[in-house]
Amino acid sequence: SRFLASVKALDDTVPTPNRVQDRRNEHISLHTDGFANTPDTDPSTEGNREWGRLALSRSTYTQLGLDTIDAGHIYGPASLETLVRQTREAGARWAARGADVRAWILHQAGAAIAARRGELVSVMAAETGKTIAEADVEVSEAIDFAHYYAESARRLEVVDGAVFEPAHLTVVTPPWNFPVAIPAGSVLAALAAGSGVVIKPAPQSPRCAAVMIEALWRAGVPRDVLRLVSMPEGALSQSLVAHPGVDRVILTGGWETAKLFRSWRNDLPLLAETSGKNGIVVTPSADLDHAVADLAKSAFGHAGQKCSAASLGILVGSVGRSERFERQLLDAVSSLVVGWPDDPEVAMGPVIEPPKGKLLEALTVLDESEEDRWLLEPRKLDASGRLWSPGIRIGVRPGSAFHQTEYFGPVLGLMHAKNLDEAIEWQNATDFGLTAGIHSLDPDEVNEWIERVEAGNLYVNRGITGAIVQRQPFGGWKRSSVGATSKAGGPNYLTHLGSWRSRTLRS
Ligand code: SER
Repeated sequence: SRFLASVKALDDTVPTPNRVQDRRNEHISLHTDGFANTPDTDPSTEGNREWGRLALSRSTYTQLGLDTIDAGHIYGPASLETLVRQTREAGARWAARGADVRAWILHQAGAAIAARRGELVSVMAAETGKTIAEADVEVSEAIDFAHYYAESARRLEVVDGAVFEPAHLTVVTPPWNFPVAIPAGSVLAALAAGSGVVIKPAPQSPRCAAVMIEALWRAGVPRDVLRLVSMPEGALSQSLVAHPGVDRVILTGGWETAKLFRSWRNDLPLLAETSGKNGIVVTPSADLDHAVADLAKSAFGHAGQKCSAASLGILVGSVGRSERFERQLLDAVSSLVVGWPDDPEVAMGPVIEPPKGKLLEALTVLDESEEDRWLLEPRKLDASGRLWSPGIRIGVRPGSAFHQTEYFGPVLGLMHAKNLDEAIEWQNATDFGLTAGIHSLDPDEVNEWIERVEAGNLYVNRGITGAIVQRQPFGGWKRSSVGATSKAGGPNYLTHLGSWRSRTLRS
């Protein structure tokens, strides 16, 4: 196949543990400078240093030997009240400055993020293992969010006589897998809407968020309007998320986390983008070369750690029966170079931590039958436990764990459907509805699929990750979102970050 030319033996590219360590240090030297301007220290954090130690020991800072953003961001229970009160007040002042001023500052923020592109890319690679190419695209997405929400702010204030009243305080809890674009998108949306913001970065990627937030401060977003806090998971973050002074919480994370947040406060005004179990259907009319490339990229980009990733390929009729598709996919996927992200040849980086739980079970399943077996068995590649070669399981049965569990890692399941009808049924038969794809050159098939598939983001004859702001507003159905059907990077997102009032004055 056309992929054979690029097939490489994985063993040639596997770093030894020492090399891994050296390479991490190289990353560190890339970006330990340039972060001199740490945020203001809140005097009220005095006496709460034990929270600081806890938070830092759970973050990747110590492990990576990075300087810390330190106690200015560490809040204990006493200072939480001050944080909430001050940010609400600052939020109200920010709203009063009007949409034009906010839009202007947000455009500056887009430029400021662009100016830090190199630093952001290297910090993403160091903290999360994201490849340079994937990290670079992510910076572009963050910049797009800034300009897009800046313009959305101007359109927000009066619609059909109803007036938009921004939230005063929005809490943002982003994930580690898009450690710049997602925090940027959530924070910029809330700022555009006129809200004060407290962001609590993912413990795995605090510095990614810190560099991005610092760029926003330098662009003119007041420090009291946008607060960055680092705190341990557990009681304290619960106190923040469930605080009655919080008007909105924007969560991107697992469905279970959204449920947990709701259990903390059942009237929580939550906008959550959650899990996915996404499939690409391939019909016999498809351009198989394109289908293979898109499936491989959507499944194994960022080692499958995207809520949008393809974790199912649903092969219709002769596609599943012929060996051609299987062979091409095997060639394509086994040619992906796996390694640490400072090597430009690397197409698939590490997973965020040594796999455990469901992901570990999936990667190490031994059972095989004639039907249900590994086409490509995943292997642990080094002592760090984070580098795994990609896995492809074929003959996945409907209703099985491989069909319905979100593994969030480098493993793809292939199902064989007898016709399009069955393929759509299986694509829909999960709890989630985030992204979905079809490869077909038959317009009737595509139309039928569009009518019936249950997902928020549909992609025809292309990959299913990497939604572009404004062009593909992002957000799912079913258990892939909570609290709002609005889409990030779309026209209605900001309208959920406040309340609408109609005012009638008798003249
Ligand atoms: N927006 C990302 C994507 O489309 C996922 O969060 O891949």
